Amino acid sequence: MNNLFDLSGKTVIVTGGGSGIGISLVHALADYGANVIIASRNVEKCNNVLKEIESKGGKGAVVQLDISDEKSVWNLVTEVLERFGSIDVLINNAGISPFMAPMEKVKIAGFKKIMDVNLIGALQCAQAVSEHMIARKKGKIINVSSSASTVSMEGLGAYSITKAALNSLTKTLAYEWGKYNINVNAIAPGFMDTGVADFINHTDESFQSVIDRTPIGRTGKAEELKGSIVFLASDASNYLTGQILYIDGGAGNC
Ligand SMILES: NC(=O)c1ccc[n+]([C@@H]2O[C@H](COP(=O)([O-])OP(=O)(O)OC[C@H]3O[C@@H](n4cnc5c(N)ncnc54)[C@H](OP(=O)(O)O)[C@@H]3O)[C@@H](O)[C@H]2O)c1
Repeated sequence: MNNLFDLSGKTVIVTGGGSGIGISLVHALADYGANVIIASRNVEKCNNVLKEIESKGGKGAVVQLDISDEKSVWNLVTEVLERFGSIDVLINNAGISPFMAPMEKVKIAGFKKIMDVNLIGALQCAQAVSEHMIARKKGKIINVSSSASTVSMEGLGAYSITKAALNSLTKTLAYEWGKYNINVNAIAPGFMDTGVADFINHTDESFQSVIDRTPIGRTGKAEELKGSIVFLASDASNYLTGQILYIDGGAGNC
């Protein structure tokens, strides 16, 4: 395949690639030729996704990863570099939203846990790949933020704050690492048909109000993120950095 979106020869890490949105991202990247490293704590789920892409002729590997554990993050990078020689793209997709609570009831320990994964984990992974990318003067980092970073919803405050901070991290890294030819962007999905949104009661009034203010008038499908991830991972986006691409049916920005 000889086009701007071709990913063949590129090694791409997808954290949290064994479930939900991650599965769609892994498939899209593999379909465009990337060698996809699927990384999360549950290797069984990651191996299932690896088998799916291999059955279509795709390439990849699984590495166990806990992004809240610094040693585990550095181990991922070392292992990928030893086995594949380079890291072209890091996709910080792993994220959690373990509870819903109004801000006056949010337990600080719970808040720290979400920060540890959604923000610190993403920073830790970015730092770990940066050494290699800076030396190479080449790389792309894509953070998976959320439309909830700009739109408030009852009970989702703690999660929203971590994603707003992730947007800021995206812009900060883009600013600082542009000189190393490292592009840092984010996709910000709205409510998708899978993953962390599963626990939300879809008959809830607050959920309905999000749909009501979504111009496209429905939740998204994880496969609707495929085009933007391929775009941001490929040479098609070489002059794009510091951007948050809202893929949310217009919920956050119209
Ligand atoms: N679904 C939505 O509506 C929606 C909307 C906007 C943004 N997002 C974002 O999209 C991303 C993917 O979420 P999802 O909806 O697909 O949820 P999901 O199915 O629960 O996926 C989350 C992934 O993160 C991984 N993960 C969690 N903690 C981890 C850790 N400490 N170390 C390594 N991996 C970890 C999980 O794998 P293991 O359990 O195996 O570690 C899992 O694969 C998240 O960042 C989420 O905030 C989702």
